[in-house]
Amino acid sequence: DRSIKIAPSILAADFANFGAECAAVEAQGADWIHVDVMDGHFVPNITFGPATCAAIRPHITGVMDVHLMIAPVDPYIDAFAQAGADVLTAHVEAGPHIHRTLQAIRGAGMKAGVALNPGTPASAVAELMDMVDLVCVMTVNPGFGGQKFIDMTAKISALRDMIGDRPVHIEIDGGVDPTTAPLVAKAGADVLVAGSAVFRGGSVQNPDPYGENIRNI
Ligand code: DX5
Ligand code: ZN
Repeated sequence: DRSIKIAPSILAADFANFGAECAAVEAQGADWIHVDVMDGHFVPNITFGPATCAAIRPHITGVMDVHLMIAPVDPYIDAFAQAGADVLTAHVEAGPHIHRTLQAIRGAGMKAGVALNPGTPASAVAELMDMVDLVCVMTVNPGFGGQKFIDMTAKISALRDMIGDRPVHIEIDGGVDPTTAPLVAKAGADVLVAGSAVFRGGSVQNPDPYGENIRNI
């Protein structure tokens, strides 16, 4: 179903070649590029920050979808806006003032997303539906690629009801592959992040497997 967007996560790309990797997956049919920012504090892993986002921006023609797994968020919002993020997603668990954070993200000219860890109920974002453009449902505990999918279909359905007719995306992040993608799409998701399932078997020199992988999701 091509109304579903596929957002490859560069967490599974060659870190020495982000520009070429982003261009390769876009040429192979990726809809958005998903950029996982980790701080070694909110999650037990460290990736990269706004400078890396700014460096890859000229290599991306479509949406740069930045997933912040950091706490605090607010001091870095302007830096990600400057870096060219189109969507900036913060975790509802990352601090006591998610409402302020989402206002600041929109105020900086970006689309605002809110992410929920697997242990967080849909009700945690019930008051935020008019403040977000995207809700990201984590189907793994964030921090690493290549983990096993955790079934969150009931949460996805609850969020779909909560969203109603608002133009809010439901994004799924973690363990998305050709087996799990149909389950989350059926439950109401429309943006599927996939890291290992997109990048496996290919490279910048041999990008055709990326396209095959994207079409199989
Ligand atoms: C997990 C990240 C995900 C991850 C997905 O903390 O937010 O975006 O890269 O990787 P896969 O698709 O391999 O589960
Ligand atoms: Zn992510």
